[in-house]
Amino acid sequence: MFPALSSYDALVYNLGYLVPYVMQGIFTERRLWVHVWLRLHPDPGAVRFFGRMRRKYGSGCFWVRVGLRSSLVVLDRDAVRRVLELSPDTYQSGSFKREGMRVFMPKAVTISRGEAWRDRRRFNEAVLEFHRSRHRYAARFLSVVQEEVELASRASLLSWDDFDRLFETITRRIVFGDVARDDTEVLGLLRRMMAQANWLIRPRRSRYFDPFYARVRRYLDAAEPCSLAALARQVPATELTAVEQQIPHWLFAMWQTLGINTARALALIVAHRDVEREVRREMAGGCPTASEGIDGLALLGGCVQEAMRLFPTTPLLFRETTVPDVLEGAAVPARSPVLIPNSFNHRDRERVAIADAFCPAWWLSGEREPLFNHLGGGAQVCAGRSLLLFLAKAVLAALLSRRRYTLVRPALSPARPIPYAFNYLRARFEASPIEADENRDTLQRIHR
Ligand code: HEM
Repeated sequence: MFPALSSYDALVYNLGYLVPYVMQGIFTERRLWVHVWLRLHPDPGAVRFFGRMRRKYGSGCFWVRVGLRSSLVVLDRDAVRRVLELSPDTYQSGSFKREGMRVFMPKAVTISRGEAWRDRRRFNEAVLEFHRSRHRYAARFLSVVQEEVELASRASLLSWDDFDRLFETITRRIVFGDVARDDTEVLGLLRRMMAQANWLIRPRRSRYFDPFYARVRRYLDAAEPCSLAALARQVPATELTAVEQQIPHWLFAMWQTLGINTARALALIVAHRDVEREVRREMAGGCPTASEGIDGLALLGGCVQEAMRLFPTTPLLFRETTVPDVLEGAAVPARSPVLIPNSFNHRDRERVAIADAFCPAWWLSGEREPLFNHLGGGAQVCAGRSLLLFLAKAVLAALLSRRRYTLVRPALSPARPIPYAFNYLRARFEASPIEADENRDTLQRIHR
C-alpha cells in the first residue's frame, strides 16, 4: 500500500498549493490571482514540497486527502508511464476537468473515453495531422504568421497583451480562415464559458453556449480553403465525433496555451545570449521563410520544448481510475483521483540532470524522459503536438529575424537556476534593430 500524508501535511498541500492553483483558474487565467500567487509564493509548483514528502514518506507515490476524497500523487517514473499509457480507458480525465469542460465542450476528446474517445482522437489526429511534422497547409499557416508578426511588430510587440492579441488573430485565421480575422466575439464567448468553468459551482449549460456554437457552425458551413475548418469537413467523421465540439480545444490551445509558451520561449532565448547566437546561426543556415525551413529549425524547437518543460502550462495532470489497478505492486481502487505533478517531475534534481537549467540541446540528443509530460503522454498525448511546434517556431523565427529583443522583466539570468515560475502576464521586452546590434557585436569582437 502507498503511504498517506498526515492530516497536517495534507492541509499544507491543500491550502498552500492546491487552493492557490485552482484560484488562478484551471481553464482560463484569473489575472489578479496569477499576479498575487506568482509574486508571493516561493514554490508555486510544489517542487520543494513534493521532494520533502518523498523523503519523509519514503515513496514515489502517496495518498493525500483533497476535500472528502483521497487522491494518489504519482511521482514514480514507471507509475507515471503506466497511468498515461492506460489513459483514458483505465485512467480517464479527472472529475474537475470533466465537469468544467462540460460547460463549454461536453463532447471534447480530452474528457472522452472508450469508443467515443477513439473516434474523436482519430478525427483530431486527421485534422491536426498529428503524424506529420509539417501540416499540408503549413505554407499557408506560415504566411499567416509572417503577415501577423509583421503587422504586430510595426506597432509594438513588447508585452503579454501584444502577444495575446497576436495569437488571437493567428488562431482565428488558421482555424476558420481570413473571414474570421477580426471576429473578436467568437473567442470572447469561449473565454466567458471557460471563466464559468473555473468555478466550483457552474451553470449546467452556459448561456454563451448556443451563440458560440452558432458562430462555429457558420464558419464550418462556409469553410475557407486551407483552414482547419475546411479540413474538418473533409476528414471522415461519424455521429460520435461531434465535429464542432472538437474545435474549442484547437482555439484555446492555439491562442492561450501556445501564446504563453511562445512568449516564455522568447524570454528564455533572449535571456541566454549564447543560445540566441546559436538559434540565429541555425536560422541563417536554413530558410526560415519557407515551411520546410521552419521544420528544420531543430534547436529553436528545443527552446520551445524547454519553455514548456520548465514552466508547464499543465502543471498537474488530473486522472481518475475507472476500474481498480495495480501500480508498482500497490492496489489503486476504482474511482481514485490521480495527480501527476509535472511541475515537480520536470524539476526534480534527484532524477533530472537538466532540472533547473535551460538546455534546448537536450532535445536534439534523442534522449527521452518519461517524466517530461508538458504535452501529456501515452495515448492521450497532445494531438496538436506537431502543429504547435511548427507554429511556435514560425512565430519565433519571424520575430527574431525582424528585431533583437531584450527581456526587461520578469528577470531570468543565465548565471542562476531557472526560477520555478515565470509570470508571463508581466512579461516585457525591448526591441532594437538587428543591424545596429550586430554591428555592435562585431565591434566588440574586434576590440577584444
Ligand atoms: C504549447 C501549446 C500546447 C501545450 C503545452 C499543450 C499541452 C497539452 C497537454 C498537456 C495535453 C494532455 C492533457 C491531459 O492528458 O490531461 C494536451 C492534449 C491535447 N491537445 Fe494540446 N497543447 C498545446 C497546443 C495544442 C494545440 C495548438 C492543439 C490543437 C490545435 C492541441 C490539441 C490537443 C488535443 C485535441 C488534446 C487532447 C488529446 C486527447 O485527449 O486524446 N494542443 N495538450
